[in-house]
Amino acid sequence: MRILLIGSGGREHALAWKLAQSHTIEKLYIAPGNGGTHQVGINVGIKSDAFEALGKFACDNKVDFVVVGPEDPLVKGIHDFFLSAPELKKIPVIGPARKGAQLEGSKKFAKEFMVRHKVPTARYLSVTKDNFQEGTEFLKTLEPPYVLKADGLAAGKGVLILDGLLEAQNELTAMFEGKFGAAGNTVVIEEYLNGIELSVFVLTDGHGYVILPEAKDYKRIGEGDTGLNTGGMGAISPVPFANAGFMKKVEEKIVKPTIHGLQADEIPYKGFIFIGLMNINGEPYVIEYNVRLGDPETEVVIPRIKNDLAEVLLAAAENRLDKVKLEIDERTAATVIMVSGGYPGHYENGKTISGTENTNGCMLFHAGTEVQNGALLTNGGRVLAVSAFGKNKAEALGKSYENVAKINFEQVYYRKDIGFDL
Ligand code: AMP
Ligand code: GLY
Repeated sequence: MRILLIGSGGREHALAWKLAQSHTIEKLYIAPGNGGTHQVGINVGIKSDAFEALGKFACDNKVDFVVVGPEDPLVKGIHDFFLSAPELKKIPVIGPARKGAQLEGSKKFAKEFMVRHKVPTARYLSVTKDNFQEGTEFLKTLEPPYVLKADGLAAGKGVLILDGLLEAQNELTAMFEGKFGAAGNTVVIEEYLNGIELSVFVLTDGHGYVILPEAKDYKRIGEGDTGLNTGGMGAISPVPFANAGFMKKVEEKIVKPTIHGLQADEIPYKGFIFIGLMNINGEPYVIEYNVRLGDPETEVVIPRIKNDLAEVLLAAAENRLDKVKLEIDERTAATVIMVSGGYPGHYENGKTISGTENTNGCMLFHAGTEVQNGALLTNGGRVLAVSAFGKNKAEALGKSYENVAKINFEQVYYRKDIGFDL
């Protein structure tokens, strides 16, 4: 098989690493990739939003299908672009077209979808400048803390959780005054869900689906889940409270209504669905949909899948997922993210990374790295994901941290308490 994988983060390195283990792989291209992906495939110097160039590359190199890692190209319509040209139409794209990508691209769309298809979620009101007053009245009906969400993509920063009513009203005003740009022209005001979070991943071809291993990620920069939100500082899979009974509820109350809802709404959907959910006293509620895999969750979820991933994705491309059964490694996988000092605020790139050659007993996935003149340099906020297996959480984390300690770059930072709450 010839596969073109789009993206450049730890998620894409983990996917590429797994795909490269398939005997069926003839060529694995990663566009643009990073300083680690070239170890398992061929980095192609095309950005993920350069649709024309990606299309031409896919044609010229006779790729069998395209896998899209991040949400941005999906929300911008990379799948629609491939469907729009006769020579590209033949190449399946794993990742939804623009309409389906609205599940992540518009919080309002996602909430309306959930209500329409009876997927359990928080009570909400969607507000614009025109019904601002109604919004402030709705806020008064809620208990603190108050949740405000910019409708559009805001690089993971568009959700505010506020303790005071006045503060919430002021932030609502600030959002309409452009705090998050156009993404905040519509705001979803939502009831606060008090529970434990879980990330669930589904791969669907629009009819059949498989549920991947679940994971928990650690989003805050500081230990004890404090400080600013990041893309993710670590992850663990499996998650102890997500037992068979709970996951059955997730499948019946969330996954099935979601897939049926897409069909009922005539939204063809081929790709991953990432369901961010809250476990409240054993009942699952959806916080959000994403139309891709999570990062860093992928760095623990993908290693636990025993199947040949290229075969599974080909089955999705060819609408045969109903015939696929996933086999899951029973062990625990953990990942710890090493980040640049200053992240998620300002940080510097170009720091020399040393010690990666000394790691062992772990899976080292690159996120923000690049190779220049043979040297491995930092090139992003999240730099490396150090994943490891163990017979339990403690052993997996122990191996991750043992290897984290062998790697160094100027101003490196990582959380030392991943998994602390499980
Ligand atoms: P999102 O960008 O939608 O993933 O939201 C970011 C984070 O905000 C989530 O991972 C949750 O931790 C939190 N969050 C979002 N919505 C709610 C809610 N209704 N209740 C409690 N926490 C929430
Ligand atoms: N780890 C959360 C995300 O990928 O959005």
